[in-house]
Amino acid sequence: MLKIGMLTSGGDCQSLNASMRGVAKAIYDAVDDVEIIGIEEGYKGLIYGNYRKLKPRDFSGILIEGGTILGTSRQPFKLMRVPDENGLDKVQAMKDNYKKMGLDCLVILGGNGTHKTANLLSEEGLNIVTLPKTIDNDLWGTDMTFGFQSAVDIAANVIDNIHTTAASHSRVFIVEVMGHKVGWLTLHAGIASGADIILLPEIPYDIDSVCAALDKRAKQGKRFSILAVAEGAVSKEDAALSKKELKEKQKNPRYPSISYEIGAQIQEKTGLEVRVTIPGHMQRGGSPCPYDRVLSSRLGAAAAQLIIKKKYGRMVGIRNNEIISVPLADVAGKLKTVDPESSIIKEAKALGINFGD
Ligand code: F6P
Repeated sequence: MLKIGMLTSGGDCQSLNASMRGVAKAIYDAVDDVEIIGIEEGYKGLIYGNYRKLKPRDFSGILIEGGTILGTSRQPFKLMRVPDENGLDKVQAMKDNYKKMGLDCLVILGGNGTHKTANLLSEEGLNIVTLPKTIDNDLWGTDMTFGFQSAVDIAANVIDNIHTTAASHSRVFIVEVMGHKVGWLTLHAGIASGADIILLPEIPYDIDSVCAALDKRAKQGKRFSILAVAEGAVSKEDAALSKKELKEKQKNPRYPSISYEIGAQIQEKTGLEVRVTIPGHMQRGGSPCPYDRVLSSRLGAAAAQLIIKKKYGRMVGIRNNEIISVPLADVAGKLKTVDPESSIIKEAKALGINFGD
């Protein structure tokens, strides 16, 4: 019998269920004697032995369901080698539970932090296959992560809806978009919804340049302006600080988030009326968009192939619309960021979008 463990780890996103369904469907179709064990709440379930047998019917009807049927949790990689409050060696516990379950392989769905631990487990001798999940799209080794396009839809929809109220009141609106330390989500949502200014972590902004762009629009008779601001956006001054200096500055923040700081500066420097909207975790919720459903189904089928061929220690991904797989060691610890010199940035600039640089 082929025994496969499955877990979802880190922040959730749309299409986790669709991806697990993809793996399960392809495995059930190709292998007669197979059992899938669902490990609950990510690595936490693997450490503490919380898991349950799954049946083919558990994967039915979940293609369009958001969230994850297994639950998830954040278990920081940097604490994996640190014993828990009862002195438990977490890595050893994960290896012991893998053995106890009698697994041939473990399928892990996750983002950056998750992949560091997945690689660690692979180096420790476990058979691991992973799928790239995150609304941030910041995983190295794949053009696209599942969850990203669904989150783009939601963030773009927020900015779409902001347009009418911004126009009615002649206001400047800042929509703060998730994405952690990278700007993919903000960039795509901003272009998709016609944002006037897009501020990304990868392109530190000059507040005077932002204000000049707003003044210019006002002088052109534009009744409103919309900024798509990444939650990780950073000013040129802050980007010049050392990591230590920045941490010190962020200890006692004057504003709840970067958008409020930018909003206060714009209001003070231009006199324009500013409002801030933060869709937050809404961006991770709801049903996956059709693009993600297709991507997840393709990635799931490819992950099943890796398991059947016993090609372990790899993450499935997509490159130039072809499904590929890459070694976990290549993925772990790397961040895929927006290149300020890339063509998409040049094209956005050609459209008149200001990046505050
Ligand atoms: O990584 C996905 C993400 O939604 C980021 O965009 C965001 O910074 C973070 O997770 C929020 O994490 P949490 O759900 O733990 O608040």
